[in-house]
Amino acid sequence: MVAGHADGTGYWAVLRHADVMHVARHPVVFSAARGGVVLEDLDPDQLAMMQDMILSMDPPRHVEYRRNVAPHFKARVMAGIEDQIRAQCRSIMVDASERGEVDFVHDVCAPLPTQIIGELVGIPDEDRANIHHWAERITGGQDDEIAAIDESQGDDGSMEGSIQLAMYAIGLANERRADPRDDLMTLMLATEVDGRPMDEMGIGSFFVQLIVAGNDTSRTMLSSGLLALLQHPDQLAELRADRTLIPGAVEEMLRWANPLHYFRRTAAEDTELSGQAIAAGDKVAMIYTSANRDEAVFDDAQAFDIHRSPNPHLSFGIAEHFCLGVHLARLEGRVFFDELLDSFSTIELIGEPPPPALEPQQRAQGTPRAARRLIPDDSSGIALASPPCIPRRVSDPSGPDHHGPRGVERSQRL
Ligand code: HEM
Repeated sequence: MVAGHADGTGYWAVLRHADVMHVARHPVVFSAARGGVVLEDLDPDQLAMMQDMILSMDPPRHVEYRRNVAPHFKARVMAGIEDQIRAQCRSIMVDASERGEVDFVHDVCAPLPTQIIGELVGIPDEDRANIHHWAERITGGQDDEIAAIDESQGDDGSMEGSIQLAMYAIGLANERRADPRDDLMTLMLATEVDGRPMDEMGIGSFFVQLIVAGNDTSRTMLSSGLLALLQHPDQLAELRADRTLIPGAVEEMLRWANPLHYFRRTAAEDTELSGQAIAAGDKVAMIYTSANRDEAVFDDAQAFDIHRSPNPHLSFGIAEHFCLGVHLARLEGRVFFDELLDSFSTIELIGEPPPPALEPQQRAQGTPRAARRLIPDDSSGIALASPPCIPRRVSDPSGPDHHGPRGVERSQRL
């Protein structure tokens, strides 16, 4: 069923690379604001909250907001914190090799994104564990252990995490107002949105957005990336021998195991996509997981190949809402794998991957906790007891072009 029908739960799955680009490049026709960016129907309060986030704004408000915050995320700004990212990675690797047993996703990959955003924003070291805890509560709703915390505390972890993080950001902003530093929080105080300097609520909300956007995605890039290498030992060996291959390898990890499966748009008017009529109000999902394997764009699209060039994957989206954290995420991936290979001379995969998950939206959230264990086998090596999810095509690979007749498929999954 498509949106507007009896239960309003269907959506158009946009599978081809060119069609995903078309949707992303027409933000007025395919609105991020109208229904939000997830397929679930949100209640009016939730939708109003989402519409205040950059990810769910439409032009012209989005253009204005983004123009003001984007300079803080340029590649050369991110390069300025490379040394700190490397130091954080080293310390995580030392910690991993000292422990008898570590959970790779949660102990090795998970702390890094919040540490790094902490570095960027200017969060004191002693506060970062708390920030990480609240971030986990926002994005970990489908992780059994984190859901159990929600249950034991009798609250909605996602809402509680957002409130705590926003309150923290407001407190930090006040400190920076009195004592400016060379950090993002100080810069945010001077950033204008909607024609005036960001107010406290705006700063709190933007901080939460950064944490949400950068946390699970980066963690999944790192854990799925390692899995991809472990499944392709010849390429892992190549990477060990020649670290100049790391940037290309990170791009291929992002293509092959994209951390976000999709973002949603809602048709603002009757339109057409590759010959398929789409009615105003219909939900449209840009399925990056499929676009990244489009044979019309990628040779041998199912193969993991760290030498792939060019590699125009859509894992960071494209056009209007192209990921603001792209330079940070890439840098993080490059430094992390360099340090991982330096720290562990052997990395062994033991156990079978769990069944792949298409939904929910984020790959890591669909990963059972038990499947994330990484055990050091000796002082120089680590073993992955059971890896995170492996990627899977969205469409039925048995069809003639793997995309169905038009590459735009009706789905009844949600
Ligand atoms: C591997 C890691 C990451 C992946 C795969 C990823 C993916 C994406 C995607 C697909 C979008 C586009 C959404 C759309 O078209 O609706 C996006 C937007 C965004 N990302 Fe990322 N992201 C990552 C890391 C980060 C980090 C580290 C940050 C923060 C520093 C961040 C901040 C944002 C923001 C603020 C937006 C919204 C931009 C806008 O709406 O104009 N992301 N990201």
